[in-house]
Amino acid sequence: MSFYSFATKLVRTLPAEPAHRATIKALKTGLGPITTQKPDPVLATDVGGLKLDNPIGLAPGFDKDAEVPDAMLAAGFGFVECGTVTPRPQIGNPKPRLFRLSEDKAVINRMGFNNGGLEVFKKRLERRQGKPGIVGANFGANKDSKDRVADYVKSLRELWGLADYFTINISSPNTPGLRDLQAESAMDDLLGRIAETRAELTGDQPSPPLFLKVAPDLIESQIEQITNQARTYGLNAIIVSNTTIDRPDHLRSAHKSEVGGLSGAPLFERSTRVLAEFAAAADGRIDLIGVGGIASGADAYAKIRAGAKAVQLYSALVYSGPGLVMDIRRDLAARVKADGFKTLAEAVGS
Ligand SMILES: Cc1cc2nc3c(=O)[nH]c(=O)nc-3n(C[C@H](O)[C@H](O)[C@H](O)COP(=O)(O)O)c2cc1C
Repeated sequence: MSFYSFATKLVRTLPAEPAHRATIKALKTGLGPITTQKPDPVLATDVGGLKLDNPIGLAPGFDKDAEVPDAMLAAGFGFVECGTVTPRPQIGNPKPRLFRLSEDKAVINRMGFNNGGLEVFKKRLERRQGKPGIVGANFGANKDSKDRVADYVKSLRELWGLADYFTINISSPNTPGLRDLQAESAMDDLLGRIAETRAELTGDQPSPPLFLKVAPDLIESQIEQITNQARTYGLNAIIVSNTTIDRPDHLRSAHKSEVGGLSGAPLFERSTRVLAEFAAAADGRIDLIGVGGIASGADAYAKIRAGAKAVQLYSALVYSGPGLVMDIRRDLAARVKADGFKTLAEAVGS
């Protein structure tokens, strides 16, 4: 057994949230895996204008306060998305609020955007300027905000120049009413004000990519509407998806009825289906990033074949530890080549 699989097993003897804190602490101390292996060139991809040397990203929620992006890049991720950050610090929901569903290889969380706020997040990103590696900033609204759109605008302004891309998160199920921002008129208001701010900040320079992260609990008409609006307002990619409020019948774990968002293996099928629906609606006019239940190279490949140009994962790390990313990289490269594709782009939507 490797040191990392041993450490992962040890951390899993703790309750879920203290285990996560311990993992972040260990990573901050330099105890994470470090790979010197360059990704197979077949894994290079371009998503929403971002050039990645491998398409496997760390999904937000793992590093909400931008404490360990470089440690996670060193572990082999092609990009790391920090956040969700809100303008003001927030304690989130009462604990316990994070549950392992081990028998289902799943997680339920109702964290509620616990985070240290924009100021500390910004300082950490400032401190890492000049380091290599793609780091994105995912932002959301404070729970008690009077003007949620203003929260998104503020984060974009404050973080401008400090991240390689930005993600507008309107899909967490744990901030009451947040997902209502996915409705047509609310999206017009939000994306309109974001687009104005972006144009002002960009001037005549190239703008960093701007992504939108959506829920998997959407119907076809909403998928059409969101895709069209994302294009209208100049977004560069849609990230599909956040956690689901659905509870599939086959769940077996004791915590299956906890309130919150379900992620991990039981989310794979739904999020991949919704991804394919977005791909059909987009018809190549906007890029997609696939997230939800990825735990292997085969899972990542399925997202790519459903239309994603890059993928992200989080929950599988709870069960396999950060060493998993290298296994996925190797397996994905082998699969792409075995099918005769010369580049990852050829496999997208195939
Ligand atoms: C504990 C936890 C916290 C999360 N926090 C966030 C968050 O702050 N912002 C966000 O956009 N997604 C968040 N997510 C969702 C993940 O980024 C991802 O979309 C989802 O978990 C599906 O991927 P997975 O099955 O690989 O975990 C969180 C997920 C978990 C498990």
